[in-house]
Parts: sequence; structure tokens; C-alpha cells
Amino acid sequence: MSLPMGARRAAGGGSMNAGGKVPLGLKRKGLRIVVTGGAGFVGSHLVDRLIARGDSVIVVDNFFTGRKDNVAHHFGNPRFELIRHDVVEPILLEVDQIYHLACPASPVHYKFNPIHKTNVVGTLNMLGLAKRVGARFLLTSTSEVYGDPLQHPQVETYWGNVNPIGVRSCYDEGKRTAETLTMDYHRGLEIEVRIARIFNTYGPRMCLDDGRVVSNFVAQALRKEPLTVYGDGKQTRSFQYVSDLVEGLMRLMEGEHVGPFNLGNPGEFTMLELAEVKSIRMLRFKLPIIY
Ligand SMILES: NC(=O)c1ccc[n+]([C@@H]2O[C@H](COP(=O)([O-])OP(=O)(O)OC[C@H]3O[C@@H](n4cnc5c(N)ncnc54)[C@H](O)[C@@H]3O)[C@@H](O)[C@H]2O)c1
Repeated sequence: MSLPMGARRAAGGGSMNAGGKVPLGLKRKGLRIVVTGGAGFVGSHLVDRLIARGDSVIVVDNFFTGRKDNVAHHFGNPRFELIRHDVVEPILLEVDQIYHLACPASPVHYKFNPIHKTNVVGTLNMLGLAKRVGARFLLTSTSEVYGDPLQHPQVETYWGNVNPIGVRSCYDEGKRTAETLTMDYHRGLEIEVRIARIFNTYGPRMCLDDGRVVSNFVAQALRKEPLTVYGDGKQTRSFQYVSDLVEGLMRLMEGEHVGPFNLGNPGEFTMLELAEVKSIRMLRFKLPIIY
């Protein structure tokens, strides 16, 4: 017999108030949390915040794009564990929450090694784990689910304009499938889920030269090379700082709403503005721009 979700979580040892507000005077009990892709750019910052909050964190990562260095400062902390594991293989861990980030986020990496399987089989495995242990599951999806959008800005109710057969489809369609699986597990199996659609994010530990505009500009500025702008540079993008994203992910996990939620900066920059900001902030003078 399947119990109502709240009862099942309580029975399964998962906290009903998973990480939520605790009455004054009572100490919040630390949670056991798995972060897949926790050795990557966003994941490692999330791990820092969870550890600082007093939780126990297990990072599951195959180091395809992540690095041990990103989490090395937690080695020796009894509340931190690191497991080298590919999420396309099942894994059993007793945890209260699952942040599922494992997936390379830059075109350079996912074109080199198409990652549809990571998004589909990996997500299925982590949803299976959530079901088995009664954990709450958060999927990091992407603004790329909107494809080449015909609506600006994109709201969550927009279904997108996507290409199922392009070189980037392993990422865009993979994440769309991951969202579908997440909602099916939620509706059909009463798993508590959250979906975040992340927009461009930057900050320390992002991969340099990975084909994304901020990291390309930073790498070129560090080498004091001219900054390469594609087209006329008037196309706009929004960029959020990684600590804001991590705050958003944690609030989403602790909140009551499933989503999907767009997480990003509502302000847009042109690529030319970004190039100028980057070279002035990093070097105190303007680097030439090539088109
Ligand atoms: N950074 C962004 O701007 C951005 C934008 C949209 C969505 N996202 C999403 O956020 C998440 C994290 O992105 P990121 O920028 O930190 O990327 P990243 O490449 O730095 O981190 C991904 C991590 O997942 C690991 N990984 C990849 N495949 C794996 C597998 N099969 N098994 C286990 N581990 C695996 C990598 O080794 C890496 O540590 C991803 O799901 C990505 O799609 C990021």
C-alpha cells in the first residue's frame, strides 16, 4: 500500500521539514545530502554551502568535467564524502535529499561526448534512489529546454522551440527528458521533486575556455589577448553569480513548490558590454575586441 507522501517521508526517516524553518531555541538536525556532479563548478559551491549549514554531504562524480581540487578543502571533514561514480550506473545511498547536477554544461564537453545517456539513464537512477529511500529530489535543468526561443524573456509556461536532431540536442532534449521523468516520478510515484531551469552562471571554478562567453573572455583577458565577439556583439544574455544560483537552488529544495523555476538574472547585457566590463575589471584597461 502506498502511504501519503508526508507520512511516507516521516516513516522513511526523511524530515517532513527537510531543512526548513526550525522553531527558535531548537537546533536544526543536519541532513544527509547527495550532490551528483558535486565536484563541478556549481556543485562544488553548493557543497560548500551545505557543509557550512551543518549538513552531511556525499558527492557522486565521475570527474568528466569536475575536479577533485574543487572539493579538496573538505577532505578530512567527517561530514564530507567523495565517491567516484558514473550516474548511469545505479547507486544506493541513505540520504534525505538529492541534488542532481551531474551533467557537463558546456557545448565543448557535451559535443565531444554526447550526454543523452547521462541525462536520461542518470536521472532515472537518481529518481529510483529518491523513491527507494524517500528522499526529496532536485533536478538542475537548463534554459536550453526553451531551445531557440520565439518568446523573450522565457516564462516557465512557454514550451520552447527545440531541435531534436542537432549537435546540442543531447543536452537540450536530454534535459527535457530528465524533466519529463522527474514529473512522472512525482505524479505517478509521489516522489517529492523540484525542477530548476538554470540560466548562464559564472564565478570561481568555472572551466576556462569551455566555449561559454564568460569563461572565454576571462581566459582571453588573463592571456591579455583581444576578446572575440561573435556577430555584431549586440546580442544580449543574462548572467548570474554562482552564489545567487546556489541560494536559489537551496531555497527551491526547502520550499513547497515543485517548479519548474527559471533561476537567472533578469538583467540582460550585450556581448560588447560584457567584453568591456571583463577587460576593465580584470586588467584596469580595455582590451581590443575582434569580431
Ligand atoms: N553553469 C551554467 O551556466 C549552467 C546553466 C544551465 C544549467 N546548468 C546545469 O547545472 C549543472 C551543473 O553545471 P556546471 O556548470 O557546474 O557544470 P560542470 O561541468 O562544471 O559540472 C558537472 C559535474 O558533473 C559531473 N558529471 C558529468 N557527467 C557525470 C556522470 N555521468 N556521472 C557522474 N558525474 C558526472 C562532472 O564531472 C562535473 O563535476 C548541470 O546539470 C548543468 O546542466 C548549468
